[in-house]
Amino acid sequence: MKALVLSGGEGSRLRPITHTNAKQLIPVANKPILFHALEAIRDAGIVETGLVVGATADEIRAAVGDGSAWGLRVTYIPQEAPLGLAHAVLTAREFVAGQPFVMYLGDNVLLDGITRFVEEFERHRPSAQIFLARVPEPERFGVAMLEGDRVVRLVEKPKEPISDLALVGVYLFDDTILEAAATLKPSWRGELEITEAIQHLIDTGRTVRAQMVEGWWKDTGRPEDLLEANRMMLSVQEPRIEGEVDAASSLSGNVVVDRGAKVIRSEILGPAVIGEGTAVEDSVIGPDASVYFGCTVSGSRVEDSIVMEGCTIAGVRGLRGSILGKHVEVRHAQADDGMHRLIVGDQSHIEVD
Ligand code: TTP
Repeated sequence: MKALVLSGGEGSRLRPITHTNAKQLIPVANKPILFHALEAIRDAGIVETGLVVGATADEIRAAVGDGSAWGLRVTYIPQEAPLGLAHAVLTAREFVAGQPFVMYLGDNVLLDGITRFVEEFERHRPSAQIFLARVPEPERFGVAMLEGDRVVRLVEKPKEPISDLALVGVYLFDDTILEAAATLKPSWRGELEITEAIQHLIDTGRTVRAQMVEGWWKDTGRPEDLLEANRMMLSVQEPRIEGEVDAASSLSGNVVVDRGAKVIRSEILGPAVIGEGTAVEDSVIGPDASVYFGCTVSGSRVEDSIVMEGCTIAGVRGLRGSILGKHVEVRHAQADDGMHRLIVGDQSHIEVD
């Protein structure tokens, strides 16, 4: 069994963060989303892993290398453009031919990993095994219609409400999916849809199994999904204090203070994580906040937020529901005339009082 992790794509719904970052490398609970995926693949006993990469290939290569940090053997598979999940499979044709593989969308986070998914596939050996979860907004997902436990129809982002059973971003295939994908024409949104390839398997009499997933799962396509994933992964982190916490500070709940971090006259309310070398002074961090490495937070309050590396937050009364990209500065304005000074990139989102 091999793994194919889709790590290309556009990430348009996560702009401006994705103007300058691969979406799969955005940290969730201070760990890039993609690393959660690689750990799940390793834990399922898979070694050979193909990473489909697009415009952010260099960044992904720099972060993952040859995969040996996870005990994986990683092969990079460049995709010319994000032309769809089935296009990604076709691009990886040589890598996946001749054996079954798990396809993992590199922006999905699964709390319980994928080991049971792989076991389920091995037990039944269908042509395709998909996993389903009930979702409140099925129009954002590929959805499945079932008769009993048989999949009869799959539709990508349905305009009509035909089912609330969304496809989770982990699929198991044997290589008949290659033949099915090769028959596809681009959909209305110009992509080769994996749902249509699986539909082709159904229509040609192959076995397509579907199973409901119990465990928590998130497709981190939008900012609010990232924050939800962050809350979930923070809530299950192993508490650990390796940095310095002075006597005037207090920690409560599930807290991680990484190596070289300093917490001075501050309150850390778990779940929260303070990254390596980050300094927190006269501040309240958490709950549900992750501050990545090399940041400085002083005289501020940060909750329910993701702060990426190298940020400075100074004298800010409160940040909540925020995602800060790398090396962002947020400071209290010196002016008392109520004016704000902003130097922000394209498609940024700012709320001021
Ligand atoms: P999506 O979230 O469906 O697409 P996207 O990343 O382009 O995001 P947006 O819709 O906001 O523009 O992709 C799911 C995963 O698959 C994600 O990790 C990116 C990856 N992907 C590819 O590798 N190649 C592709 O052609 C597509 C469409 C996605």
